[in-house]
Amino acid sequence: MRDLQAMKDEAARAALAHVSEGAVIGVGTGSTAEAFVRALGRSGISLAGAVPSSLVTGRMLAEAGIPVIEPGTVCGVSLYVDGADEADPMLRLIKGGGGALVREKIAAAMAERFLCIVDETKLVPELGSFPLAIEVLGPALASVECHLCVMGGKPRLRPGFVSDNGNRIIDVTGLDLAVPEELEAVLDAIPGVVGHGLFSRRPADLLVVGLASGGAREITAAR
Ligand code: 5RP
Repeated sequence: MRDLQAMKDEAARAALAHVSEGAVIGVGTGSTAEAFVRALGRSGISLAGAVPSSLVTGRMLAEAGIPVIEPGTVCGVSLYVDGADEADPMLRLIKGGGGALVREKIAAAMAERFLCIVDETKLVPELGSFPLAIEVLGPALASVECHLCVMGGKPRLRPGFVSDNGNRIIDVTGLDLAVPEELEAVLDAIPGVVGHGLFSRRPADLLVVGLASGGAREITAAR
């Protein structure tokens, strides 16, 4: 049985097969995305540039010698590579454990292909065990918490955390995720919600999963 980081490293290495020489790609945030940056740096693949989904990923890309493209300056990338906290058989995701969910959603939305790299513990039959991260404007913190309580959720302000966008994050459990696309629309409509970590209307196109038994396998959405 391989440890978690070894599985993340396997997924990250296997993702390199999808990266084309000279491409502009997006790169996500978290320990699996970091493993991907390390693997990319060692790979010898020469990119036109990479758009990071967080300040920390931007620093890592620069350290790995990969040209960094400032977020907000391009409207599309051919590939976006990022991790997730949960992935279901339709490749819908919960993301945001690392707090970069808003920039991650922007990157996923502008990607021709979204490649999600995970260790196999992230595969779930249904989304919803991992707390859902919601980034909220300061003046709306209490009102968003009230909305979430009315929806049956148990909100908790993430202690001591401020996002790269200068906002706080509420982690919420107990919401009904039976139809994630519907919940996504409801959350998007709450005033003061900047974004959330539910990726169902723009799921991943491909999962690359690092296995406990060694190696990695690719999963496409169940129809
Ligand atoms: C950050 C994320 C990460 O992709 C997610 O939390 C998974 O992290 P890790 O690769 O460290 O398990 O959404 O906002």
